[in-house]
Amino acid sequence: MRKTAAIVLLALLIFFAASCGAGNGCEATLAASTSTAGYSGGETPARHSETSGEPFQTADSGAHPSETQTESADPPETADCAPETTESGLPETTGAGRSETPDTDVTDGASPSDPDSPETESPDTAVPTKSPDPPAGPDYLVLVNRSNRLPDGWEEEIALLTVENVLGKPVKVEKNAYAAFLSLRAALETEGVYIELDSAWRSVEEQRRIMERFIEEYGEEYAKNTVAPPGCSEHHTGLALDLCLIVDGKVVRLNEEMMRYPELWRIVHDKLPAFGFILRYPEGREEITGYGYEPWHVRYIGDAGAAAAIAASGQTLEEYTGTTVRARRGVK
Ligand code: DAL
Ligand code: ZN
Repeated sequence: MRKTAAIVLLALLIFFAASCGAGNGCEATLAASTSTAGYSGGETPARHSETSGEPFQTADSGAHPSETQTESADPPETADCAPETTESGLPETTGAGRSETPDTDVTDGASPSDPDSPETESPDTAVPTKSPDPPAGPDYLVLVNRSNRLPDGWEEEIALLTVENVLGKPVKVEKNAYAAFLSLRAALETEGVYIELDSAWRSVEEQRRIMERFIEEYGEEYAKNTVAPPGCSEHHTGLALDLCLIVDGKVVRLNEEMMRYPELWRIVHDKLPAFGFILRYPEGREEITGYGYEPWHVRYIGDAGAAAAIAASGQTLEEYTGTTVRARRGVK
């Protein structure tokens, strides 16, 4: 009898163990904990946002080597860039190619028409098709690159507005460049393409912090190849804007993600000249510009005609200012 009871008990134990293993009645012990929101993919992308961190910490570069990064020869010094301009005061062309992957981040974003969208100014209701004549102001063709520092006294010449960027953080930008950006954005909206402002003006000190952060987070070689040396970033001018995309209501700021929308960038780039902008770091021109392809980095030059000429010729700003502008100014 005792033996029979033992057999029955053993059978019961085996039955319960089998049931639990099959998931019947044991769910309470299972925790669902595998959510991985946001970016997915084999490798975790670095999140390099120019605007991550404190206000105005808008590093242009995000330091994850992406498919857009190119091999470079000698990385530049991080501390400084060229000490002065040429004797004529006109710029020289830059050296070795570099690639930059901007800081980016993926954030749920309001669409440009969302009332909560972090904007401080509304675009004109009538959508302009081109920018007006070049505005009075500083030398909108100023060239700042690895070989050409920001000219002395530049900041006294420009009028900076403080606006909110796509993340709702304050960003400074030259006033006519911002007006042109609003017009560009409005014109693109009519074609169903949505852009926002991510990063614009940066102080030399801020650029230095960005460089240091990138060296720390992503290594010296990458940082040097993608972030302009403090004092030599075009962002110091207030005329360089890093755009981001709004796709299906989401802000696309991660470099790797922005690169996935070449067709949207083509539409954006096609519209740039009419509003006085150029694509500053075009694909395949690293040897001239000093940086790899950055579809998001646009530069306001104020003159729609000049911007159209640059776009049509395929010239970089280095080439344009090195030939056309010199000729126009009577400099050999
Ligand atoms: N990423 C651009 C080159 C800059 O840092 O100014
Ligand atoms: Zn930039």
